[in-house]
Amino acid sequence: MLAGDRLLPVVILPDAAAAEPLAAALTSGGLRSIEVTLRTPAAIDAIKRLAASSELLVGAGTVLTPDQAERAVEAGARYVVCPGFSAAVVRRCQELDVPVFPGVATPTEIQMALEAGLTAVKFFPAEQLGGAPMVKALSAPFPGMRFVPTGGVTTANLGAYLSVPAVLAVGGTWMVAADLLKAGDYAEITRRTAAAVAAARELTEGADDAR
Ligand code: 3PG
Repeated sequence: MLAGDRLLPVVILPDAAAAEPLAAALTSGGLRSIEVTLRTPAAIDAIKRLAASSELLVGAGTVLTPDQAERAVEAGARYVVCPGFSAAVVRRCQELDVPVFPGVATPTEIQMALEAGLTAVKFFPAEQLGGAPMVKALSAPFPGMRFVPTGGVTTANLGAYLSVPAVLAVGGTWMVAADLLKAGDYAEITRRTAAAVAAARELTEGADDAR
């Protein structure tokens, strides 16, 4: 599904009660996945609610410890995203048979991910590390590795990332910005989501035609 939409909305949910209306907003915008970051006390409950009630593929983000990975998976998370590379977290996810996307910023970390048997990683924080040209440069020596650039991605730079063939998907909070959640502006969340879905589809289909 990640590879299909090529978009991963990263959310920081202050209140688990927002889980259902948010899922509805994302689904009507055309998305099929969500990453709930474990940055708020509401996150585990939100993952449970989303896993039970929505059709979205629910993942846990900002997973820093093996124990957090375990709790998130117990709550219903079907994939795990981390800001950095932790061999212990990767191992626990592999034991749990759940896809894991550790964050990388350097070739060394990509080699660590390769050694752990992974074929996709998060590239974080993407814009600050050099954006799409950096992903392109990093991907050259690692032909089997796919990247999920996250951090500073917006509608304005989405295209640059998605036109790099090694980019599996892009992630970010712009579709579900904190101020929109706070204001309960689900219509704007749907609007941003639909715009991103349309842009990603156009770019991906364009790239497929050119191949
Ligand atoms: C993440 O956890 O992946 C980032 O905080 C998302 O970065 P963004 O807010 O710049 O999209």
